[in-house]
Amino acid sequence: MSGEVDALYLYLCGVTLFFTLLIYGVLIYFVIRYRRRNPSEIPRPIEGSTKLETLWSVIPLLIAMTIFVWGARVYFIQYRPASNALEIYVVGKQWMWKFQHATGQREINELHVPVGQKVKLIMTTEDVIHDVFIPAFRIKLDVVPGKYTTQWFEATKPGRYNFFCAEYCGMNHSGMRGYVEVLEPTEYENWLSGNAGQASPAAAGRGLYESLGCVSCHGANAEGGRGPALIGVYGSKVVLSGGQSVLADEGYVRESILNPQAKIVNGFGPIMPSFQGQISEEQLLQVIAYVKSLSTAKPETGTAKPPPPSASPGAKPSASPKK
Ligand code: CUA
Repeated sequence: MSGEVDALYLYLCGVTLFFTLLIYGVLIYFVIRYRRRNPSEIPRPIEGSTKLETLWSVIPLLIAMTIFVWGARVYFIQYRPASNALEIYVVGKQWMWKFQHATGQREINELHVPVGQKVKLIMTTEDVIHDVFIPAFRIKLDVVPGKYTTQWFEATKPGRYNFFCAEYCGMNHSGMRGYVEVLEPTEYENWLSGNAGQASPAAAGRGLYESLGCVSCHGANAEGGRGPALIGVYGSKVVLSGGQSVLADEGYVRESILNPQAKIVNGFGPIMPSFQGQISEEQLLQVIAYVKSLSTAKPETGTAKPPPPSASPGAKPSASPKK
C-alpha cells in the first residue's frame, strides 16, 4: 500500500506546487506589467468573459475529479477487509498496546508478524480513544471505546518499524508507542513456538463461555433452549424479532453480550442478563473468538476446535452435529 499512498500524495503535492507557482508567477507579472504609471490614470472597464469563466471552472473540476477517483481507489483497497489474513486482536489502554495472536501469544508494545502475509488488526480500547498509527505501512485508525475497528497491512520487508498512538489520550500519550517486528516466515514460526503455552483466544473464550454460565442457555447445538444456538451464527444473517435481519459480526456478538436487549433473535424472549462490567475487553474478544470458531469450518488453530460444550441438565441429546 505504501507505494499507492505515496504516489497519490506526490501527485497532490505536484498539483499544489504547479498552481502555487502558476498563480504567484502570474500575480507578480501582472503587478509589474499593469502597475499604475501616473496618479490620474483610470483603467478601461472590462466585461466578463463567459469563455474564460467556463474554462477556469471546468479545468479545476477535471483536476479535482482525478484526485477524487484516485483517492477513492486507494481508500477502497485499504479499507476493504482483507481475506485470509492473519487476525490479531489489539486492545489499547492508557498507556500501552496489548496484542493477542490467534494462537494465544500475547505481547505488549511489540507486535511480531511474518513478512508477505496479510495481517488484520481487530482493535478496541479499554478506556479512552487511542489511534493505531504505523507510518511505515501508511495505516492509521482510531480505536474507540465500545466498538471494534479493523485495518490490515502486509509487510513486505523484514525489520523493525515504529508503532505510535496518534490520538491525544492523556499524560503519557507520547510514550504510548512500540514496534512492529517483521520476521521471515520461518523466524516467525520459531518465535510463535518459542512463546507457546498460552491458550488460544478461542480456547480461553470457551472457558469463559462455560464459567460465566452462557452454556446453560446457549448450548452450541441449542441445548438449553432458552437462547439461540451458537453454531454457525458468526458471519450469518440473523433474523430479529422485529423481522429485520442483521449480519452477525464482531460488533453484533459484542452487543449481544453487553446489551442483550438491543437485538432479540426471532423466536426468543428478552431474558438474557447483561454482562456489562463482568467481562473485560480482552475477555470479550476471547468469547467472540470462540463464537467465531463455532462457525469456521477449519479453525485457525489446532486448539480452537469447536467441541460441543457439556450439555446442561435436562437438555435433549442432539442427534448429530450440524457441521
Ligand atoms: Cu493512546 Cu494517545
